[in-house]
Amino acid sequence: MTYTSSAAAGTATDEIWWRQATVYQIYPRSFADANGDGIGDLRGITDRVPYLASLGIDAVWLSPFYPSALADGGYDVDVYRDVDSRLGTLDDFDAMITVLHDASIRVIVDIVPNHTSDRHAWFREALASPKGSSARDRYVFRDGTGTNGTEPPADWESAFGGPAWTAVGDGQWYFHHFAVEQPDLNWANREVRDDFLRTLRFWSDRGVDGFRIDVAHGLAKELGPASAVLPDAATLEAMPKDGSHPLWDRDDVHAIYAEWRQVFNEYTPARTAVAEAWVAADRRARYASAEGLGQAFNFDLLEADFHAGSFRSIIQSNLELAEQSGSSTTWVLSNHDVVRHATRYGLPVRSSRDQRQGGAWLLAGGALDAVDQELGLRRATAATMLELALPGSAYLYQGEELGLQEVGDIPDAERQDPAFFRNRGVDIGRDGSRVPLPWKREGSSLGFGPGGSHLPQPGWFGESSVEAEDADPDSTLNLYRRALDLRRQLQADEHLDWLNTGRDDVLAFRRPNGWTSVTLFSDAPYDLPAGELLLATAPVTDGALMGVGTVWLRM
Ligand code: GLC
Ligand code: CA
Repeated sequence: MTYTSSAAAGTATDEIWWRQATVYQIYPRSFADANGDGIGDLRGITDRVPYLASLGIDAVWLSPFYPSALADGGYDVDVYRDVDSRLGTLDDFDAMITVLHDASIRVIVDIVPNHTSDRHAWFREALASPKGSSARDRYVFRDGTGTNGTEPPADWESAFGGPAWTAVGDGQWYFHHFAVEQPDLNWANREVRDDFLRTLRFWSDRGVDGFRIDVAHGLAKELGPASAVLPDAATLEAMPKDGSHPLWDRDDVHAIYAEWRQVFNEYTPARTAVAEAWVAADRRARYASAEGLGQAFNFDLLEADFHAGSFRSIIQSNLELAEQSGSSTTWVLSNHDVVRHATRYGLPVRSSRDQRQGGAWLLAGGALDAVDQELGLRRATAATMLELALPGSAYLYQGEELGLQEVGDIPDAERQDPAFFRNRGVDIGRDGSRVPLPWKREGSSLGFGPGGSHLPQPGWFGESSVEAEDADPDSTLNLYRRALDLRRQLQADEHLDWLNTGRDDVLAFRRPNGWTSVTLFSDAPYDLPAGELLLATAPVTDGALMGVGTVWLRM
């Protein structure tokens, strides 16, 4: 069963639909719950397609919905070619994709190739098989050090805190970049490579339009033979990330994606992919090349403070990099891994979050008490409207269209994120951006479903619900709808010209067809240039933008 778009099958526009798409990220467990077990599911998504269509998005990206013990929110996959029974069945998936496609919404699914879960058949087989077996070769096993291998092969720390090596009891240890339950695969193994090609075809055959590739820069590793002495954590940390690092962003990773590209190109239109690769900007182009995945996330704006100068240089450099790669650039302000941008921009001091690898993952509990939510939201909508006026694809995260704030007061006992459990006291983890969406002002789980909610929803959520905002013409939701509608109409060449604003707290640019975006980063009023006012996130009085905000004009 191969899906061909009903609207414009096989046309040129079909092949490049992704270049300036608006992609809405769904975190399935927290989007909508059709059967009332407190966990969002695929039928819940299908039921909400009218809502998704009302937003004016081009595609949805679904975070993992595969069978999983949820040691890392589903990024610990037990089976790659199935649906978690709590979320539905493959039939539910087919029904969902049909309804989405009928609404002209494309579907991107998440592929998690760096690691499986520890419940994957391969890992169970590896544990049951001896040292040196082909079953162990699918993962990264090494002998321990010390007497009888009771010490780890190296003192490396995992991304969620705690050791990156775990013993299996016979003198060997396996490597995991992330949680203990996420053993890393060995991508030098041909069977591993072939199995993922099968997975890509499996979902492509079911009509999936594209893939988001988790930890795309981590697959290729060079750790030498089991007997090799591994570098210690400090040495590893100091190694350059220029293609020679043993664990990250190695040049040989691109041979894997060249094979994937051949699979993508077996389909019409060709399947697309976007790399989640936290690499230096100048190393992004290879992931984004037409011979590779085709596009790569650019997290620079997500990591930046709300500051005109930083925004401008990030935009400029990413447009140049995109031109070099031949791809279009991508913009992201929020996702399931970071503190929501309406909250981030209201944090008093930048030092309250840590910019370590993986972006703004760390947020100490107390920091949320000091957030200026009103300022955070004003800045967030200004930044989003600026983002939506830029050339390239925009990736939105569920709930940002409601202006949702991060939920800070989830009781410890109800938290789920391994980043919380492994860093207790330092990092409250990512659950605060994954609380089930409020659809209604009141009622069971605020309309998320007929039952409860797998993470507690705060009291104030109802006022930010879809129901409440739908009814309010000035809500964030209706602002997003107007903006996405205009974006579709005004979308032009992937090019912009900066306008001279005479102020260092104002950024303005003009797209080739006259679509102009002006962002004021402070509350000192700014006289707008003449033009037809299309949209404003802050009051405009006598031709002046009165405070932090973005205005779109036609000039
Ligand atoms: C990516 C995902 C994140 C997950 C990690 C490990 O960064 O976005 O949610 O924890 O990979 O799979
Ligand atoms: Ca459910």
